[in-house]
Amino acid sequence: VASRSTISTQVAIVGGGPAGLLLSHLLRRSGIDSVVLELRDREYAIKRVRAGVLEEDAARLLTEVGLGDRLHKEGQRHDGIYLQYAGVRHHIPFRELVGRSVWLYSQQEVVKDLIEAHDAAGTPPRYSVSDMQLDNLVDGSPTVRFSQGREDFELIADFVVGADGAHGVCRPSIPETNKKTYTREYPFGWLGILAHVKPSTDELIYALHERGFAMHSMRSNSVSRLYLQVDPHENIAEWSDERIWDELDIRLGTPGWTLERGEIFDKSITPMHSFVSDPMRYGKLFLIGDSAHIVPPTGAKGLNLALADASYLHDGLAAWYGNGDERGLDEYSEKSLERVWKIQHFSTWMTRMLHRFDESGSFGQADGANPDNVDFDHHVQLGQLRQLCESERGMAHLAERYTGLPFLRYPSAE
Ligand code: PHB
Repeated sequence: VASRSTISTQVAIVGGGPAGLLLSHLLRRSGIDSVVLELRDREYAIKRVRAGVLEEDAARLLTEVGLGDRLHKEGQRHDGIYLQYAGVRHHIPFRELVGRSVWLYSQQEVVKDLIEAHDAAGTPPRYSVSDMQLDNLVDGSPTVRFSQGREDFELIADFVVGADGAHGVCRPSIPETNKKTYTREYPFGWLGILAHVKPSTDELIYALHERGFAMHSMRSNSVSRLYLQVDPHENIAEWSDERIWDELDIRLGTPGWTLERGEIFDKSITPMHSFVSDPMRYGKLFLIGDSAHIVPPTGAKGLNLALADASYLHDGLAAWYGNGDERGLDEYSEKSLERVWKIQHFSTWMTRMLHRFDESGSFGQADGANPDNVDFDHHVQLGQLRQLCESERGMAHLAERYTGLPFLRYPSAE
């Protein structure tokens, strides 16, 4: 039996997505050593299609830590969004309302920039690892055992950080008896496409239509990203390109506006749910990003939450390594969760305001549902949207939340 090679580091980071890579980048800048382990290969990490909106503070943080070059060159600053209902499009001017903006720059690009920074620093993530197992999280030295190629390793660290998402090994490493979890399933999913076509809008359009939610986002001047609310069990094979464009036309259409069509080069259906694990810490294991919480995509908060967690945990670790101050680490879970629940509220609010629900919990032709109730809910949504768009304070509330809560810092500024 081959023996295990032992590697030592200060912080073992499980997961090479944006949360894990950013944390490792921030730690390196603070002189703290870390190793990032990733199940997939580099290609997968770079190609995975994900979110596209950075809050103002997320973009500022990336810029401050040397990751802003391409973001400012290739990303687009957006000063507002459109909300559409009853066939009319309303502009919400973020910058006028709250003096803040967001950046359209996709998660893939953030990941690419982070990987490049890691390569340049000579600390590339370890890709294609398998059989990860966490030990000694409470007593002794935390250890991550894993295999890579034909070799078996033992990574010994002061702390382990779970940045490996909803299906990783870290989330279930907190025993059931030591946590409470919260979930909410939605009776629909998003069918998302990427298409080679210039966006037909200057800013994102979120539309509530009788047939369900639709959205127009973008990735660049020549790539559009669009979404349709569908049944989560919908068979994607039944959605031809033409059917998708026709449905987008119906739900996004307004008089005098044309949705330009182009070649669809990516098509997928994502179910929607919310999840929170409380606490986000167990002994020397800390969870960041999707391993700790999931938000529905309406409002684009998932990536931003993950970056905020990484930044806040970095501060706690830097204080601990700096002068043994444990308070940042002790406060990490509680303070992060307070912030997480505010963002769960925002994502839930946006989701409920903009999607078509039915009584039976299954989307579509109200099987078993009372159609009167379904229509009632739809009209309540229209009432809600009208109040919001007719009130400067209503719009400012949305603008403030969409452009993002301040990132937490330890030690806090006061
Ligand atoms: C996206 O561009 O993928 C996107 C934008 C805004 C959202 C969700 C997704 O609310």
